[in-house]
Formats: sequence, C-alpha cells, structure tokens
Amino acid sequence: MRTIGVGLIGTGYMGKCHALAWTGVRAVFGDGPVVRRVMLCEVEEELARRRADEFGFEKATADWKALIADPAVDVVSITTPNALHAPMAIAALEAGKHVWCEKPMAPSLAESERMAAAARASGKAAILGYNYIQSPAARFIGKLLKDSAIGRLNHFRVEMDEDYLADAEAPFSWRSEQSAGYGALDDFAVHPLSLITTLIGRPAAVFGEMSKPYPDRADGAGRRAVETYDIATALLRMEDGVAGAIHVNRCAWGRKGLLQLQFFGSRGMIVFDQERFNEVNVYVAEGPAEGQGFRQVLMGPAHPPYEKFVVASGHQMGFNDLKIVEAHELLNRIAGKPSLTIDFEAGLQIERIIHSIARSSLEGRWVAMDPSVAASP
Ligand SMILES: NC(=O)c1ccc[n+]([C@@H]2O[C@H](COP(=O)([O-])OP(=O)(O)OC[C@H]3O[C@@H](n4cnc5c(N)ncnc54)[C@H](O)[C@@H]3O)[C@@H](O)[C@H]2O)c1
Repeated sequence: MRTIGVGLIGTGYMGKCHALAWTGVRAVFGDGPVVRRVMLCEVEEELARRRADEFGFEKATADWKALIADPAVDVVSITTPNALHAPMAIAALEAGKHVWCEKPMAPSLAESERMAAAARASGKAAILGYNYIQSPAARFIGKLLKDSAIGRLNHFRVEMDEDYLADAEAPFSWRSEQSAGYGALDDFAVHPLSLITTLIGRPAAVFGEMSKPYPDRADGAGRRAVETYDIATALLRMEDGVAGAIHVNRCAWGRKGLLQLQFFGSRGMIVFDQERFNEVNVYVAEGPAEGQGFRQVLMGPAHPPYEKFVVASGHQMGFNDLKIVEAHELLNRIAGKPSLTIDFEAGLQIERIIHSIARSSLEGRWVAMDPSVAASP
C-alpha cells in the first residue's frame, strides 16, 4: 500500500501524541506508506475543526461513526476515555479498518473479550498503546535478560507513580469514574504488565491490594464520591517460578512519570526508570570487590531504533518518540512484517491479569491465572 488513510478519534493528551506519531513516522523511518491524515473526531464540531487545522487533518467531525464509515480511512487511532474503547474499536474492525487503540483495552473483561473476538474475525491489525515496550532501553534490557547478563533472574519489582491525582482537591474527572475501570490498575498497572509480559513472561498466580486515598472530589459546586482505587499493589508468581511485585500510585506527590523496573539476578541487577529513560544501569558482580558498582549505559545509535531519530549519541529521545516507534510497528504489522506490538490477543491476557489482581484484592486471596495452577502460596 503506497498511501494509508488515518482517522483519529479524540485529541486530548494521547490524541496529540498519535497525531504527532502519524505526522513523523515516515520521516523518521524512511519507509512504509505515505500517511494521509484523513479525518479527526472530537466531541464538538468547532473543537474538531480547530484540532484538524492544528494537526494537519483534511476533515473534521463530531460523529465518530462518520469517521469510521469514511472509505478513505484505513486505520483508526482511538484515544478517547477507556469506556469508549470497546464500542469504537469493534465498530472500526467490523468496518474493515485497522485499529490502534489506547490502553487499557476496556474496563470490563467481557468488553475486552469482544474486542479480541472482533479483531480475530476481521483479520485486521489491532494493537494497543503500550508505548513503553518501544523504548531503546526496554529493547536493550530484553537483550540483557536473554543473554543472561545478570545471571538467572530471581526477582523483579516494578513501580509506576505519578502525582496528577495527589492533590485531594484535584477535580473529579472520567478517571475517577467506575466506568473507567478499577483505577490505578487499568490506568497504570497495565503498563508494567506490558513490559513484564514482553520481557519475562506471564504470571501463574497473583495477589492484589487496591486502596482509595481520597473518598470524594470536587465536582461542580459539590463533591462526588471517588469510584476508583488510585493505589494498587500486586505480587506475581511467574509461570517459571520467578517472583515479582508491581506497585502503582497516581496520588504520589513528587513523582512525575516514575516507571522504575528492577531486575535482580544471580550475578547482578538491572535498573531503569522512565523519568530518565535514556539510561540503563547494570550491575554485574565481577572483578575485585572494591571496583564493583553500577555501570550506566546511555542510549545512543547502538540501541535501535534510537539511530532513526538522531545519529549522535547522548542527544536523547523523548516520550512522543515512543509513539512514532509504535506507529511504525503498527505499519509493519499491517504490511505483514515482523512487529513488536501488543495486539488485542496479548492485550486480553493483560486484562485477565488486571481483573485477577482486582479479584484477589476484593477476596483477600491468591488468584491463579490458570485453574490448573495451584493458587495457594
Ligand atoms: N499510552 C499512554 O502512555 C497513555 C497515557 C495517557 C493516557 N492514555 C490513555 O489514552 C486514553 C485517553 O486519555 P487522555 O489522557 O488522552 O484523555 P483526555 O481526556 O486528555 O482526552 C480524551 C479526548 O477524547 C475526547 N472524546 C471523548 N469522547 C469522545 C467522543 N465520543 N468522540 C470523540 N472524541 C471524544 C475528549 O473530548 C478528549 O479530547 C485513555 O484510555 C488513557 O488510558 C494512554
């Protein structure tokens, strides 16, 4: 396909990231089809027109069904609140479009299953916005683990913290509504799980805990009860016996975009933090004890696909670049080439883990991911 037509639904935080990705992907990678930004959709016509003008889309609409029906649209970017992912993705797939849907897949497992079934039936590419697996650092860590650079993996710990809901007076938004899911689990924990399932494998059993730091938030002139859990912790027992933990908190004052991975091995460890995502720190216990310490590896052209963005070392990639890589991986997938993406099938596995962690928290017990695996510790 020489040209691919893009439709974008939603133009908030993630909508702009998708728009930038579609704008930059061919220039960065120098391959794939010419991307035609066909139509964009927002809740109001006037806003949609303004955004289409800013983002360089040919047409604007306030009706997402019209966008999906447009024959010039081949692929639909869905960047709306969580509750809208399932109806929009399913309609797009049924209309024969490829789909790039933001995470999480959907608030309920039944909807996620319907999305995966629609993707299966359509035969189209359907992927989720798990951008953190796309970083040069994540790929480098994957290589280190595969090469047993830190020996046998014994343990991992992942933390994801931000403070955008830390202020008890931050107003009520769709993110605090039950329709968005459990809260920090759907908003944050899915990201650590995208990395864990990509880099290590799947859990056999999980134990979860969810908590709600603030009972209500300002909503117009009054207060509205918070329906979600903004903090969550999960213990994971992996299929190969490795133990791990995930801690997520969206009320963590001081944390702006912490996504810290720690892998502990029999010969050393790896530390990475998304707040400094051009650096990977590796400790290997070798040589004289007085010389042992962490080695900081700065991402550069030797760490693909950094070299596609800038040829010079030490100049650093940024968050939006991950979305450009993700768009490229989607285009590879559409073209039938090898592609590093979390498709709806893999996304459904992540949703199953999320729902099992929530169930564990509500029932106060280990939950086996597979009934044939013993649940008790
Ligand atoms: N991948 C990531 O790192 C990442 C980061 C943040 C958010 N997200 C995900 O992206 C999604 C959107 O989050 P956000 O932070 O961009 O939210 P947002 O509130 O900034 O943007 C959502 C946009 O969707 C629009 N919208 C709502 N209903 C619509 C409809 N019916 N038709 C057209 N437009 C509609 C809203 O007007 C708004 O502009 C969420 O699912 C969220 O979980 C992913």
